[in-house]
Order: sequence, then C-alpha cells, then structure tokens
Amino acid sequence: MYFYGTFPEDFTWGVSSSAYQIEGGWDADGKGPSIWDNFTHVPGNVNNNGTGDIACDSYNRVEEDIYMLRALGAKNYRFSLSWPRIFPTGRNNSINSHGVAYYNRLIDGLIANNITPIVTLYHWDLPQALQDIGGWESNELIDLFNSFADFCFQTFGDRVKFWITINEPNIIAWMGYGNGLFPPNVKEPGSAPYRVAHILLKAHARVYHTYDDKYRTSQGGVIALCPFISWAEPKTLSDPRDIEAADSYLQFLVGWFTHPIFKNGDYPEVMKWKVGNRSELQNLPSSRLPVFTAEEREYIRGTADVFCFNTYSTKIVKYSTTPLTPFSYEYDQEVSLTFDSSWPSSALPAHRPVAWGLRRLLNWIKEEYRNPPIYISENGVGEKAKSDVDDNARIFYYKTYIDEALKAYKVDGVNLKGYNAWSLMDNFEWVDGYDPRFGLHQIDFDNPNRPRTPKRSAVYYAEIIRNNGIPLPKEDEFLYGEFPENFLWSAHLGQIFPHSLKNRQ
Ligand code: NOJ
Repeated sequence: MYFYGTFPEDFTWGVSSSAYQIEGGWDADGKGPSIWDNFTHVPGNVNNNGTGDIACDSYNRVEEDIYMLRALGAKNYRFSLSWPRIFPTGRNNSINSHGVAYYNRLIDGLIANNITPIVTLYHWDLPQALQDIGGWESNELIDLFNSFADFCFQTFGDRVKFWITINEPNIIAWMGYGNGLFPPNVKEPGSAPYRVAHILLKAHARVYHTYDDKYRTSQGGVIALCPFISWAEPKTLSDPRDIEAADSYLQFLVGWFTHPIFKNGDYPEVMKWKVGNRSELQNLPSSRLPVFTAEEREYIRGTADVFCFNTYSTKIVKYSTTPLTPFSYEYDQEVSLTFDSSWPSSALPAHRPVAWGLRRLLNWIKEEYRNPPIYISENGVGEKAKSDVDDNARIFYYKTYIDEALKAYKVDGVNLKGYNAWSLMDNFEWVDGYDPRFGLHQIDFDNPNRPRTPKRSAVYYAEIIRNNGIPLPKEDEFLYGEFPENFLWSAHLGQIFPHSLKNRQ
C-alpha cells in the first residue's frame, strides 16, 4: 500500500558523496597519494581501468556543486575529507594549506546557502604513507587518525556540527582485508577482518572522546559512524533456524560495530560464540575474534550520538552448515544468502531494490538499540545506462524507499531524523569504475568540463524535499461538503429495465 504523509519540520534531507569518488585533483597542489590512487593506477584493477584522477573534478568545481545542491533544495550535504589532501603523508607535520583552503571554500559556500555540512572524516582513501606502516592492521593508526580528526575539529568545527568518523567500517574490514577486493587487498578472510575491526572500533572511540573532551562544549555538534546494512529476511519464517540465521547475519554485518557502541562495549554474543566455538574446532589456541579489556569496553560503549547507516538492498537468509576450512568471517556466520529473482536488478548484483526491507530494517534498529535517533546517510540505486536523464527506475526507487521510511516514521514510531540520497551526481564507483550511475545529476565524463545535468530523479527528489515527504496530492484528497439547497437527488431505473424504457419512447 502506498502511504501519504510528511516528516516533522526539523527532518533533514540531503545528498551524499565522498572525496575520492568526486574530487579528482589526485596530485594537485601538494596532495599525497592514497591507497585508492595507487590501486587504480594499476591497469586491470578497476572496470575499464577507471581512476579517480579527475572523477567529477569537484576539486575545481565547488561553485557548480553548490549550485546543484541549491537547486535540489537540499538541507544538508554529506561529503568526506580526503586525509592525504590535508595531511599528504597522513601525519600532522605535513599540513597542505591548499587542501584546507578547498574544504574551507566548500564549507563556507554551503553555510552561505543554508546547507548544513555533514562531514565524513574517513571514506576509504587512506594516505599511502600510512598503509606503508601497516594500514588499519597497525595500532599506530588509532593515534594517527585521532590527530587528523583533532585537526579537522579544530579547523572546521566552528562551522561543521555533524561528524561521521568512518564510512562503512564493516566494508573496510571485509573488502579490504577479508576477500581483498579493495585496497590494501589483504586476502585473509579468517582473521584480518576481525583484527582490523578491533582497531577501527578503537580508532572511532578515540576520535569520539577527543570530540567529547575538547570540542563538544564549544562547538556543540554530534558525532557517529555509519555502517553498511542490508535487511536480512529469513528464508522460511516458520523455521526458527532461519530466523536465528537472519539475526546472526545482521549481528555479524552491523552488530559487529554497533553492538559495542550502542550496547555494552562488546561484540554480539552470537559472534563471540560462533567464532570462539569454530576457532576451537579449528584447533586454534584462541578465538579469531579479539577480546576487549573491561577498560576498552567502557571506552567504546556509548561513542555515537546518533545512529547513521547506509543501505541499498535486502538479503534472504537461510541457516547453513558451513565448512570449517578455509577459516572465514563469511563461514563463521553459518548462513547462506540468496535473493528473490522477482526483485528488479540494478547495475550492481548485490543492490536489487527491495523497498519493504527498509521499513523492516528501521524497525530492527529501533528495537535492537532502544529507539535511537536514526539518519539514513546513504540510499539510492545505480543504473548502467550511460545517458539516463530519463531515469524512471531511480524515481521509482526513491518513491518506494522513501515511502517505506515514511511508514516506519509515521506508523511504527521509528525515530527517523534524516534521509540522504546517494548520490548528488554520477561518480567513481570503486572497482566498478564509472559504469554504475548513482547520480541525481548526470556527469559527462567524456567532456573535460564535466558538465552536470539534472536527471528527472533530481526534479522528483527536489519535490519530495519541498513537500517534506509525500503528502497526498490535492486532487486525490477526499472531499467533504454539501450540495446547494435545491439540489435534485433521484434514482435512475434506466439501467435496470432498459427495454421497457425504450418501448415507452
Ligand atoms: C556505499 C559507499 O559508502 C559509497 O562509497 C558507494 O559508492 C555506495 N555505497 C554505492 O555502492
């Protein structure tokens, strides 16, 4: 059923992007190389050998980006800071004033247009110099990330009041260190993701405390992290093992980070049990899942002011007895994943649109984490078409997903505070290059000026923002009222006795 209604006055609508995916200027004005720069420069690593060298050229087009945001009527813009653009070697002894000036221009431009900046500190583009000392496998990164964040709070925090520490830490841990498809391409599925997640959690908590201790009183902002989540629908609802499997999938995917932060400072029970038990069966001396000390648990618990997450699709989950070898974070979950072939496809096989999954996911977050304030920090669909200005599939995606979000808010009482579409414009979609198009605006990547053209979905999303949701159209509203005094009411028998009426004429 389609549902009509609006969100509360203070609901925040926006669009999202990230530095490496849009900025270009990969070595401009003293920027240092990131792990993504180096990875994409090796032929064969990315679909069609795409790179972020120029991307949407946003480094040189601040005004154009702000113009699009204004035309949309966006209340906020979520973007990320490129760590190597600000600290070319990753450390605060190498501050690049040109990089700082770029972000100042962007932030000032947003504020001048009444658009709230939502700033992600880390969206995957690690300075190569820090990868060279071990990347997120090294505990040193905790201090180094903290000193970068500290600099950003100090430099931009007078104007930025919404911070996201790490974008999709669960994807970093798995894609970067498990299946190794993303740089640094470590393929150690059984243990590296757990070790890296452990460090990412500590780094996140460290930055949260820095904000809390040094900046919150004077700057008064909020800070969170944003995991990636797909809703998990049990394959057979009457089979308790599938219900457990779906929960287990969600705990491994997202509870991995949000259970420690929003609950008790520790990993979900099911993770501790399954990884511990399987490690024992694998004759390992201890669990592949690291353990937090009591002090660390205390330090991590409560380190997010709001619940942000990115979401695109749904999985159907079934219980499965997975092999013990090779050791793998995926096998540890003891699930098998499928999808329903009736779900429409999109440019990415794992991103089939399933709008109803969003409502269920929002309700799960509400129940699991005791009704936190929730922000959808990314949601959208990629299409393969090169020129898709008439992007009806994307309009349908937003129309149905936002409607499910509306039901969750209005009918289920989910404390939803904001919604951000991914993405402002077509951009570099990581290993998939420039084929999947996620933008509300089309970019002509063959043209050096990278012209931006609004798609129909941009017009549609602007309307949703203007209406603050999806109110019932005026012409469809049920009308109450009376006819005039002398209005004549009658019944007509013509349909019942057509022949006799005819004969009378
Ligand atoms: C999530 C990531 O944060 C973003 O960088 C990516 O482009 C979108 N998902 C779409 O896959």
